[in-house]
Amino acid sequence: MSKEKIAVAYSGGLDTSVMIKWLKDKYEGAEIVAVTGNLGQKMEIDNLEPKAIATGAKSFHFVDLRKTFVEDYIWKALKAGALYEDVYPLATALGRPLLAKALVDVALAEGCTMLTHGCTGKGNDQVRFEVTFAALAPQMSVIAPLRIWEFTSREQEIAYAMEHNIPVSATKKNPYSIDENIWGISIECGVLEDPMVAPPADAYQITTAPELAPDEPTVVDIEFLQGVPVALDGQMMEGLDLIVKLNELGAKNGVGRLDMIENRVVGIKSREIYEAPAATILHFAHRELERLTLEKSVFQYKKNISQDYANIIYSGTWFSPMRQALDAFVDETQKPVTGMVRLKLYKGNVTLLGRTSPNSLYNEALATYTEADTFDHKSAEGFIKIYGLGLKTFHEVNKGN
Ligand code: ARG
Repeated sequence: MSKEKIAVAYSGGLDTSVMIKWLKDKYEGAEIVAVTGNLGQKMEIDNLEPKAIATGAKSFHFVDLRKTFVEDYIWKALKAGALYEDVYPLATALGRPLLAKALVDVALAEGCTMLTHGCTGKGNDQVRFEVTFAALAPQMSVIAPLRIWEFTSREQEIAYAMEHNIPVSATKKNPYSIDENIWGISIECGVLEDPMVAPPADAYQITTAPELAPDEPTVVDIEFLQGVPVALDGQMMEGLDLIVKLNELGAKNGVGRLDMIENRVVGIKSREIYEAPAATILHFAHRELERLTLEKSVFQYKKNISQDYANIIYSGTWFSPMRQALDAFVDETQKPVTGMVRLKLYKGNVTLLGRTSPNSLYNEALATYTEADTFDHKSAEGFIKIYGLGLKTFHEVNKGN
């Protein structure tokens, strides 16, 4: 049998470290290509390469995906208004197809024969990785060690790591399972598995508790150009910097804490805590600008598209003709979504202070109740007569209904 060359989606954590050695045992003489993607998570990048090599990888690739993540993934989701089951801004879910693509790109360039990831057998992430692999590199075989290996606990993995001199960080195990990127942090497991248990203070990684947040609110002006945020407080900014800044301001004010029971792709209901300050602020601001600039039927119809778009991201079919078709619709709707939204961040809340747009459809002369009113009140009478005609006829015929 020819030797395998295996591309591993590597994080430097216990699972993917143990995985490297385990794969080399299973596929004798296999060469391991470790790949880590930077999606803006705060991890020590410097130590990853020596760690991967010491663990047994032949080579290590670090791919900076932050700009692509913001411009080609996050902004699309924001323009679409994609919140899974009305709550989750989809940070983890949006990152997976991009990480999977980065892994495939390295694997193809390095002539790998196999792809692998460190996801468990009961989550959404295995689905997102493997559906993307199937779409982008159907010729490659895929292995998900966590679904098949012999270890049934973290302790067993640590014992295996010790036995084989695999460097694992000595830090005490975090009681939670955490996934982090620039669009948000997902936190589950431990005491959070009981949906009646309020999240303990230590579950939150970046946000200040609302009750401990500053007594002075933070006011922010966010400018959008065709649905994309381009400036903060009058200063033009790269998307990445803008998100970093809003995460900082939001976190300081306790904004962006979410606690939800969600429906996983694999049929399980799970409880997850999220921290997504920038995503919460930007979705709120974007929607308010849409209220001002979108024609009524577009505004109302787009709600359905938002839900469909969120389902696509959540269920791992990012690389699909359906997503592309919805992008075309969304981009068409975003043409007038230009303007500025002023918000107040205060003790866990985002509130609206004002909004303005060159494409505003709000006409004060029509809306006003003062003498400046230009609305034709008399024509309302004829409108109501005809508008209500169907109902009037129905009730004349069906008396007492
Ligand atoms: N429930 C989220 C999703 O499916 C996050 C999954 C990863 N969560 C974690 N805490 N590691 O997108």
